[in-house]
Amino acid sequence: MLTILDRLGDQESLDKIIDLFYRKQLEDPVTRPFFSNAKLPRIQQMQRSLLTMLFCGQTTGVAFYLQESHAHLVRDHGLNHDHFSHTMTNLEAALRECGHTPALVAEIMMLAWNLEDAILGNRKIRSMQGTLVDALRLHEESLGGPDAVVKRDPHANEPDKADE
Ligand code: HEM
Repeated sequence: MLTILDRLGDQESLDKIIDLFYRKQLEDPVTRPFFSNAKLPRIQQMQRSLLTMLFCGQTTGVAFYLQESHAHLVRDHGLNHDHFSHTMTNLEAALRECGHTPALVAEIMMLAWNLEDAILGNRKIRSMQGTLVDALRLHEESLGGPDAVVKRDPHANEPDKADE
């Protein structure tokens, strides 16, 4: 089975989505305030690396990384479900405007929605070890089981140590 990145086309297609997505985040009055002090080129570069990784099926440490990098936004600026929900709407609109098929858009959105707990720190993840994004596991299952995704993490079947 092809990875999401294969189906998006190429790195250039991914860059177009990220550009449009951020334009929408900045236009949206609900999400805009979070970016007033943010260094946009750096975030975009990090998004690019992260999404490339995720869309190739590489997941180790992602939940921990997202939790850590957004923790101050939750703590100091009240980042919550409403902000996340607007972000998802903006991402979906960007994907559609880039002309991707409804099936691919739905697949990516399912993946993105499943990152909410990590971003908002709803379930504390304490170490890099065993922090395969649960979302990605769910995503694999929803695609028809672990073998549905080409590149899997070798530790995928280890017990989740997140709650230790
Ligand atoms: C699936 C959802 C999301 C993903 C994959 C994601 C991904 C990322 C990544 C990779 C970074 C760079 C982290 C770093 O500097 O190492 C970042 C930073 C950031 N994100 Fe997100 N993000 C998501 C949701 C959100 C939401 C909902 C908001 C707010 C509405 C948000 C606001 C920010 C801001 C303001 C930064 C910069 C933080 C700083 O440098 O102080 N993100 N995000």
